[in-house]
Amino acid sequence: MLLNASCSKNGSSPSNNQSNNIITALTIIPGYTDTTGTLKALTASYFTNMGMAVTYGPMLGNVSYLATVKTNANIVTFGNELKEGSIVKNDGSYDYATADALYNICANNGLQVYGHTLVWHSQQNVTYLKGLITAAGTAQAATVIDAEMKRYITTTINHYANKIRAWDVVNEVISDNNGVMRSDANTTVSAANANSVFLYGQYLGTKYDQNNYVLKAFQYARLADPTVLRFINDYNLDYSRVKTDSLVALVSFINKNGAALVDGIGTQMHISINSNKDNIDYSFQALAATGLKIRISEMDIVTNTTKASGFTPDATALAAQAAMYKYVIQSYLKNVPFAQRYGITVWGVADTDSWLNSTASPDVPLLFDKNYAKKSTFSGFKQGLQ
Ligand code: XIL
Repeated sequence: MLLNASCSKNGSSPSNNQSNNIITALTIIPGYTDTTGTLKALTASYFTNMGMAVTYGPMLGNVSYLATVKTNANIVTFGNELKEGSIVKNDGSYDYATADALYNICANNGLQVYGHTLVWHSQQNVTYLKGLITAAGTAQAATVIDAEMKRYITTTINHYANKIRAWDVVNEVISDNNGVMRSDANTTVSAANANSVFLYGQYLGTKYDQNNYVLKAFQYARLADPTVLRFINDYNLDYSRVKTDSLVALVSFINKNGAALVDGIGTQMHISINSNKDNIDYSFQALAATGLKIRISEMDIVTNTTKASGFTPDATALAAQAAMYKYVIQSYLKNVPFAQRYGITVWGVADTDSWLNSTASPDVPLLFDKNYAKKSTFSGFKQGLQ
């Protein structure tokens, strides 16, 4: 018999169907009914850092959200508040007010904060960055952008000195085209994104030499505070072996030229119920072979693989999703030695908070339903811990 959230053992109140963009899917399905325990207690003997992505609004104003995070996680990543575009104003001043407020809520609730992210191409203040280039002249673009990258990395790491102890120094620097470094040559910027996408690789070095901007970013981060852990983070490593190999090659280049500048690698793992399990295994094996700390940094698993509107997953899809959570956790534990396991962060709390759930493409990618009740995915995650 299939149970829905309203009669699961998690004590959730009967679900309401009023919002048509909110899936009222079955959340507890056969084979994945054991949801006892909390994520941080269940995982404690396997790795140290159990994380969730959080945002300021619900951390401030939603008691159930905060309680779920506190109960299940010991570290959080800010969904948006520590991105360059959230901090940098058009005049080049830095405004940490919202990030600080969120940091304080976390600290007051015993949660550590993981820093995401210093150098990325998305969610940038393009007005400010392009304005610098215009003011200096295109011949000076590289010098200007290099200096601003250094100022941003230095100021932000120092702003959170002794508070944020690990940072994604760079995010998504490998393109999806044969694993070369991301630049304007391999990244399409849509009109809608023109004011938020800024390709550092368009202006700074992308060859594997001393001008490489990823190498420089790691050097600047170490200069700012040598005690902070420095990570490189990317997506589709679970999907493309070429991309994984390229990331490993980049990390090996950086560490050869700068003496252990990269402490760890994050594999985002925004995956689906159809993801290729062999490639998942491959990514963990190849990343672990670097000897660095390996983290699953942004995990979620979609069921609505065609992004259909009006979608509701059936029991088969939900079973596949719980099984995929189980598979990934098992593979991480099997392929990443204990000493290298930094931990796992799930990218959100309740399904309704997920960046992958929208009216246009409803989905249930996470471990808690809209009432913050544990789902079969939680049980799948738990079953993977063995
Ligand atoms: C996402 C946020 O969750 C969304 O709220 C935002 O609109 C877009 O970015 N890779 C990353 C994350 O490194 O920062 C992204 O977060 C998801 C993909």
